Amino acid sequence: MSEYDVIIVGSGAAGLTAAIALADHCNVLVLAKGELTGGSTAWAQGGIAAVLDAGDTFDNHIDDTMVAGAGLNRRETVEFVVENAPASIERLVEMGVPFNKDAEALHLTREGGHSHRRIVHVDDATGWAVQAALLKTAEAHPNITLLPGQACIDLITGRHEERYSGSGRVWGVYALDEKSGKVHAHVGRATILASGGAGRVYQFSTAPRGATGDGIAMAWRAGCRVSNMEMMQFHPTCLYNLDVKNFLITEAVRGEGGILKHPVTGHRYMPDYDARAELAPRDVVARANDDQIKRSGLDYVHLDISHLDPDFVAGHFPNIYEKLLTLGIDMTKQPIPVVPAQHYTCGGILIDLAGRTDLPGLYAAGECTESGLHGANRLASNSLLECFVFGEAAAKDIIARWDQLEPPPPIRPWDESRVTDSDEEVIIKQNWTEIRRFMWNYVGIVRTTKRLERAQHRINMMTGEVEDYYGHFRVTTDLIELRNLLQCAELIVKSALHRKESRGLHYTLDYPDLLPQAVDTVLVP
Ligand code: FAD
Ligand code: SIN
Repeated sequence: MSEYDVIIVGSGAAGLTAAIALADHCNVLVLAKGELTGGSTAWAQGGIAAVLDAGDTFDNHIDDTMVAGAGLNRRETVEFVVENAPASIERLVEMGVPFNKDAEALHLTREGGHSHRRIVHVDDATGWAVQAALLKTAEAHPNITLLPGQACIDLITGRHEERYSGSGRVWGVYALDEKSGKVHAHVGRATILASGGAGRVYQFSTAPRGATGDGIAMAWRAGCRVSNMEMMQFHPTCLYNLDVKNFLITEAVRGEGGILKHPVTGHRYMPDYDARAELAPRDVVARANDDQIKRSGLDYVHLDISHLDPDFVAGHFPNIYEKLLTLGIDMTKQPIPVVPAQHYTCGGILIDLAGRTDLPGLYAAGECTESGLHGANRLASNSLLECFVFGEAAAKDIIARWDQLEPPPPIRPWDESRVTDSDEEVIIKQNWTEIRRFMWNYVGIVRTTKRLERAQHRINMMTGEVEDYYGHFRVTTDLIELRNLLQCAELIVKSALHRKESRGLHYTLDYPDLLPQAVDTVLVP
């Protein structure tokens, strides 16, 4: 067992921001599954939204966020995040993030749904630069211990105290050391879940392999409410390539003038769907691409920016340009084949403005949460921003309440006395593939009640099998992830069946209209 003041699950933007903000006050353990750079943060392309332009205002950013979110956002959260954005960018600059500049000012690019240029970026690989700066800062702090290769299994609560209390108080996590195969308890006065999204519940996703909703599932099992899980965001422009399955083509390509075309007729179709054309919010563009593909029986649509100056295109999108060249596509001369793919989990663990969850001692920040910022659809580049603002907010609240956060009691070690090594790994692979396929086909961009019920039926059948397997065999990362994927699939489908309207990312042919009032879908365990 290891004991620290605060345990953080996740080494992405949210987890490291919290760790850095805490480290002058207490010692912190940061756990990560696989490598420290394995989350979505390192993969972010477009940038971070903040009001920095003279002609822009907080009200504009708030309005754009609420319009994209189809009114489901909590306004006080939107205001809180938008107003804290410039300070978050300032802290990143101080940590050495080399944002692109225009003379002395930061260069601002544009993305769909934004009425102004307001996205700071590092070329087209912002996430990598942010991840590197946060890691460098965290590594340099003597109070931060970074421990990669740890797959957290479940939260430690009053049920795991040596003198059983059964309370919901959270004391840390049980985590599988991926190298030794041993499970250890990591305990602290406070725990922060910053474990990212659940994108890999879908067959096609831009998210990294580890985005299996572990934190959401752990929090749910421990007794937290989750909210708006039906709001799964699909990015309109993921590269279509038979070998490279999840390479994102940033929204900034459309922001800078890229247009979507039918690959056979060359028709620019976005104006037929929305007056904002390619700069409409993501849900609108993703549905239009899906419609074109399904209507004409296509494999992909075209995203074309080859009408712009080739030096501008290659200079503004150097990483995408190079990557596409290796695949035989010159984006300065020809269109890019693209398809929609799952991209972001808008719903998650319900938190307040201080990052507090329903359980005492448990905080959460970043993509694993539902803070009220995104509503029914996240505005582009608001997500990294949410990680910085809520990572900081959770840290501040822990520091402010330090005297009330008692040290952990003795905790029971992980019990492996009744399990053996698995003899049929094939079950994990089979179930994993099955979930991702039916979620894509039945719970995707366009839904129907019948399809959702089919998915629910399959989830019900698989749940017994997976729980039985979990109860009998020693845990592996694959098994932990499968259990969590299935749990998240269940939460998504349950939430989708609950919503009897089409709002934002939840679009169902059975209820195509918007209800007069925007109401969160809150599931209570
Ligand atoms: P992540 O960065 O995903 O980190 C999750 C962490 O949790 C990882 O360290 C992981 O190892 C750890 N973890 C997970 N499960 C466990 C477990 N069981 N045990 C231990 N550790 C665990 N947003 C923007 O605002 N702007 C963009 O330009 C942008 N571009 C994007 C491009 C791509 C391709 C993708 C996929 C997303 C993009 N997003 C963007 C979204 C944004 O990157 C993410 O929402 C954000 O980085 C999430 O940060 P996070 O800290 O919440 O989680
Ligand atoms: C992108 O660069 O298109 C992704 C931006 C985001 O997800 O916010």
